Amino acid sequence: MNYERAQAYLKEHGQSQLLDYYGELSESERSRLLTQIEYTNFNIIKNISAKSAEKLGKISPPANTVSVQEAARRRIQFEAVGLNMLSEGKVGAVLLAGGQGSRLGYDGPKGTFNIGVTRELSIFEQLMNNISAVTNITGRTFPLFIMTSTVNDKTTRDFFEAHNYFGYLRDEIHFFIQDVAPACDYNGKVFLDGKGSVSLMPNGNGGWYSSLVNNGLGRILERDNVEWLNVFGVDNVLQKICDPAFIGATILKRCRCGAKVVKKTSPDERVGVLCNQDGKPSIVEYFEMPENLKNKTKKGELVYRYGVILNYLFNVHDLNLTLSGKLPYHLADKAIAHMENGVRVTPSKPCGYKFETLVVDMVKLMGSCLAYEVEREREFAPVKNASGVDSVDTARELLRKNGVTL
Ligand code: UTP
Repeated sequence: MNYERAQAYLKEHGQSQLLDYYGELSESERSRLLTQIEYTNFNIIKNISAKSAEKLGKISPPANTVSVQEAARRRIQFEAVGLNMLSEGKVGAVLLAGGQGSRLGYDGPKGTFNIGVTRELSIFEQLMNNISAVTNITGRTFPLFIMTSTVNDKTTRDFFEAHNYFGYLRDEIHFFIQDVAPACDYNGKVFLDGKGSVSLMPNGNGGWYSSLVNNGLGRILERDNVEWLNVFGVDNVLQKICDPAFIGATILKRCRCGAKVVKKTSPDERVGVLCNQDGKPSIVEYFEMPENLKNKTKKGELVYRYGVILNYLFNVHDLNLTLSGKLPYHLADKAIAHMENGVRVTPSKPCGYKFETLVVDMVKLMGSCLAYEVEREREFAPVKNASGVDSVDTARELLRKNGVTL
């Protein structure tokens, strides 16, 4: 795209400010900026007016569930099916590690954070240990896709390389960079991150499948006949990855996806809850849930009690449904560094929007989802904050309780 075309294109989208410093740029900087402009999807900015426009449909409890009790009762049966799928190489995993981890306040990819106390134990290493718990049983590895962002890709790859991929088969690990979306101010004007660069930020954790495909990795899924993908976040150091029982239960319950869930500790716990909305599986965020439903109980238990923990199993064939651009963008109010009067400022308070697609919206498109309950104390230790709830300290305590030497 040349300068004149960029000018016309930006005018059409109301984003002419992106060329404010063009005159000050070198030839190579100009060409980089023009390329960025050419490939940026400005259409998503239209979503800004649709903020909180989505209405809640008719909410009911999830249609397909496996409680902790049922999981215990049918463990052998569920595991047999899952182990068979794993042994046939029909399951892969996707680690979502493209986030900024800003709440932890750690300078580096969250997975490189040392959760150890008397020894070095990075979050990545702990997750790879959780993976070995399964591969030691099946006697084979599975493809592991790791989603990074433009910001942390190199550091993440270097870390895995420096640690010899934690003993995993190198050829089974596939890194890919998450797609980006432009960030803008509250009036929908896209920020410049520098005089010659558009502010582009990771497009949320729902972008993982389209990013994987856009990076050409769909061919590995096809080549290896991978039928299911277990998607998980980087934060939960206690989670089971490619848990055979979870895989088997999702298949036996004939669901197109499954979500590991834990019982909410109280009606007000800030987690999304797996329910049905207008007959489709759906995750209702804690701030969206109407009070009467949030507190509703039956036989002394919350009716809407299954909180999601960002560990999902998706059927690969059905995932293609999410590729046709149907995933909505959500606005995230964030502090975004940007150019202001010729100077790059880094605000400490939110100043604009980042656009994010969310895994929870993928669940809706799948049509059916199994709520597979697991014991919180054994499978949920998220590292979100530096201190307090869901922090390094709480995660360490839970790891210790589960026999991990720190
Ligand atoms: P969070 O919602 O905790 O976001 O991500 P975050 O950016 O990591 O952390 P904060 O909010 O700034 O503190 C949940 C999971 O989704 C991944 C994260 O790496 C984490 O595993 N994620 C999030 C992505 O891969 N890409 C994104 O754009 C956002």
